[in-house]
Amino acid sequence: MKTEELKKLFDQLSLKEKIGQMVQIPGYFLSEGNITGPALDMGLTQEDIDLAGSVLSVIGADRLKAIQTAYMEKHPHHIPMLFMADIINGYRTVFPIPLAQGCSFDPALAENGAAIAAEEAAAAGIHVTFSPMADLSRDARWGRVMESTGEDPYLNGLMASAMVQGYQGMDHETIPEGKLAACLKHYAGYGAPTAGRDYNTVELSARTLREDYLPAYQRAVEAGCDLVMTSFNTLDRIPSSANRWLLREVLRDEMGFDGVVISDWAAIHELVEHGIAADDREAAKLAVLAGVDIDMASPAYCRNLLSLVKDGEVPESLIDEAAWRILVLKNRLGLFENPYKDASAADETAKILSDAHRAAARKAAADTFVLLKNDNALLPIRQEERIGCIGPYADRRQLSGSWSIFADDSVTETLREAFSGDANVRFAKGCSILDPGAPRVPFGAQKIADEPETDADAALEEALRLAADSDKVILTLGEPNDYSGEAASRANLTLPECQQRLLRETAKVNPNIVVILFCGRPLDIRPVKELAGAILVAWFPGTEGALALTDVLTGKTAPSGKLAMSFPYCVGQTPVFYAQLSTGRPFHGDFRTDRFHSKYLDIPNEPLYPFGYGLTYTSFECSAVTLNKAVMEKSDTIHACVTLANTGSVKGTETVQLYIHDCAASVARPVREMKAFKKVTLSPGESKNVEFVITEEMLRFHDIGMNFVSEPGRFEVFIGSDSTTENKAVFELK
Ligand code: NOJ
Repeated sequence: MKTEELKKLFDQLSLKEKIGQMVQIPGYFLSEGNITGPALDMGLTQEDIDLAGSVLSVIGADRLKAIQTAYMEKHPHHIPMLFMADIINGYRTVFPIPLAQGCSFDPALAENGAAIAAEEAAAAGIHVTFSPMADLSRDARWGRVMESTGEDPYLNGLMASAMVQGYQGMDHETIPEGKLAACLKHYAGYGAPTAGRDYNTVELSARTLREDYLPAYQRAVEAGCDLVMTSFNTLDRIPSSANRWLLREVLRDEMGFDGVVISDWAAIHELVEHGIAADDREAAKLAVLAGVDIDMASPAYCRNLLSLVKDGEVPESLIDEAAWRILVLKNRLGLFENPYKDASAADETAKILSDAHRAAARKAAADTFVLLKNDNALLPIRQEERIGCIGPYADRRQLSGSWSIFADDSVTETLREAFSGDANVRFAKGCSILDPGAPRVPFGAQKIADEPETDADAALEEALRLAADSDKVILTLGEPNDYSGEAASRANLTLPECQQRLLRETAKVNPNIVVILFCGRPLDIRPVKELAGAILVAWFPGTEGALALTDVLTGKTAPSGKLAMSFPYCVGQTPVFYAQLSTGRPFHGDFRTDRFHSKYLDIPNEPLYPFGYGLTYTSFECSAVTLNKAVMEKSDTIHACVTLANTGSVKGTETVQLYIHDCAASVARPVREMKAFKKVTLSPGESKNVEFVITEEMLRFHDIGMNFVSEPGRFEVFIGSDSTTENKAVFELK
């Protein structure tokens, strides 16, 4: 519809109808859908429901077409409804969880995954996805690290903008066929809850917020995402849904966002719980003044905005502004021409879980696995070897992570099924996934971790017999699907005792242990590192995950993932991440000389496995860093170069990473920050020059006066295969 026509339509709307656009009802008001938050008694009348501009979590082409038809018939101006849902790492063809996608260091992989998710969800009638989540995540206790792409602002920014492009396409005028509008979340700082407990208070300095947390959101805004979701947390003691500075000044004025701001589930109502509003009425007022356009799943707007305007407490212009933005979004989706958009039962059949989608998910999964250890080249397994595949994940179907709420696990093959043609691979469960008494988590589609073994000793004995009679053991360990994700924080990051016992006992009968780790977060895997010869982190790899594992375990595909988030030594270290500040007393490793330095008495400062780390089936050598000059003018660039050689016997891919350290600045700078990386594939014996261009922009930061500038002085450039590389050169910025 042309803007003038849309304006005409808009002018016909009553205030009540405009407010209706700002209300999002959960699917259960239409007797449908998953519940992804507390079900409030919203006290809505039938009229409120009939005027609500959007609904979340209802899916299915025919179902949504019927809902849309009935809704539009009733609506006084026949304005279509928006259908939103959490399409995170896939709709029905599930890709690896976002944290795993981060480990691919491959934005194109994330873009393709998002494009496939969009195609399937669009066919099922969805218009908007609540993705990407660009929350910087450095605390493994927080369950939602699984939904992030990790601890690095630069990598997160690349991944978030790639996902926006994948969902929305590159045509900035419309959301074309087969695409969804993307909703960036959770703005802002949601990934830094105190003590890793979901929804908890966030304390970030203004500088840390700007340096580390805002950049990825900004990249997604620059990529054109249509919506932004406010976060549940406070920042500087102000909940985001009431933070005018954050929403109007930073998001709109500074970042230039002109789309729709939606609250998270019931977040406006929760301003009362936060203790900054006396009731829903005050909460609605704070949120609308702050700039929240849509109230998700709370009664605040619906029950109060009308009287707030009539009583002169909220200017009507704010309602106009918000309702207009929502109509513009509906128009961008083409809903005034075709209110069903791409909903089509025939397309659902043709596109969902198509061979092409499954093949892409399989390739993506293989590219996200991270090989942490591979002593004596235990991996890949050879065809003639007799393998005992043991553990709670050996025959488990829940491989998609807790945010794949529309997935049907019955289409996911288990590892046992994926290996079914291979008589040399035999199976035993060995133990349950959780210890007796561990909490079971009902969430989303109510996938609940299985019950403990009734006869744990018999299960263990059977597994040990198999282990003893095998050349190698593949031990599949990890946390259940629903132990990460929303409201799934953990204070202990160790594997359940039953799994640790299985590991210990297996190691007694067979030293050749390959552990495959299924998890939604970095875990404390010290015993695994000690007892297993090889460790492959599979995360939650999605619909085709087990098949992708057979590809990597057998060497058909070499692993190439790198950790997007450090694995802590133990939980006491969290949050642990590579881009730390030096402190005035950095520890150099010697307890006698560094008595009064920043350290623990009982554990190392370093994580068990650092950011950027990951092996493959070959080895690489990286030459010393060379720079084309020692001094850089601000208007100039510097070329940093290494030669990478494949020194092993098979083809492999290395991710060469560049980190920069600003040695002396007006505020303390991280010991290193990743500014670029390149994935390089080399055949055995092959070598290649890898060149990076360092620009002045890469050296900018928020200085003592909060100006985003670079400062003259000395910089170190590190280039290597992970964030701990000491391969460096030095230059000066004039
Ligand atoms: C709450 C979650 O925080 C958010 O990420 C999600 O999109 C909404 N619920 C809707 O399900």
